[in-house]
Amino acid sequence: SVKIVSTVRDLRQATADWRRSGKTIALVPTMGALHPGHVSLVRQAKDRADKVVVSIFVNPTQFAPHEDLARYPRDEAGDVAKLAEADADLVWAPGVDEMYPAGFSTGVKAGSASADLEGAFRPHHFDGVATVCAKLFNQVTPDVAIFGEKDFQQLAVLRQMVDDLNMPLTLIAAPTVREADGLALSSRNAYLSEKERAIAPALYATITEAAERIAAGTPFSVVTTDATARLVEAGFTKVDYIDVRDAATLSAATVPGKPLRILAAAWLGKTRLIDNVAAGSQ
Ligand code: PAJ
Repeated sequence: SVKIVSTVRDLRQATADWRRSGKTIALVPTMGALHPGHVSLVRQAKDRADKVVVSIFVNPTQFAPHEDLARYPRDEAGDVAKLAEADADLVWAPGVDEMYPAGFSTGVKAGSASADLEGAFRPHHFDGVATVCAKLFNQVTPDVAIFGEKDFQQLAVLRQMVDDLNMPLTLIAAPTVREADGLALSSRNAYLSEKERAIAPALYATITEAAERIAAGTPFSVVTTDATARLVEAGFTKVDYIDVRDAATLSAATVPGKPLRILAAAWLGKTRLIDNVAAGSQ
């Protein structure tokens, strides 16, 4: 079984013991409702450090008032079973009052990588992500933290935070784990009706085709216009964005020849899906 702690005091005791005996620590931050994508991060964490801490905390500050905080899926017993199976060493599962006690008022303002794409549709989201990750890094004091490419902009925002604020850890990117039909695993896939679930793989298929057309030299604006039309045709009810960006900075890209990333967000009814793929020379 895997040990679970829910106070900073107990967490520090566990990590201090490891530190004293010279062990390295990897952190995998999550919001629970764990699926094989999360578990793949735990496996990579095990390759990178002696001890693996997985945090489970549904962070209220990264949800806007109209978003899905209240219905966000929770399954602590299932999560703990999966983490024991994946051989994690410690589960860090603080309550909201432990993370944000009365009087809490300091925060990290996410940098320029947060400015658009998700940032345009979820205005304070990345400030909430950056603040909770800064807290998690200070609580756990990991040598490395593993994040999924599924949330590609999140990774860019956190890399910028770690660089800008000289945080003493290394971030590691892990590839997106997908269903057999290409749909990226996500806790939010649980919201999809059977009909929506059948449409959902069109997101990955569309951005994969877009990447192929960019490799073939099609102008970016043609590619993104056609991709948007294809998503609507497939049954997506709204396309928030589909964009080609510089993979390193996420700044606008207009020409091939360097590593690019195609990022997309689109709605199926009440459920918003995001995905991204590499494009251009990597
Ligand atoms: P959550 O959505 O639970 O995701 C936790 C980690 O799992 C993130 O690094 C995410 O990119 C990764 N992940 C999700 N789906 C994946 C998939 N299909 N393949 C590979 N990795 C995947 O992201 C968050 O939580 C939060 O914003 C958090 C960083 C924990 C801060 O609250």
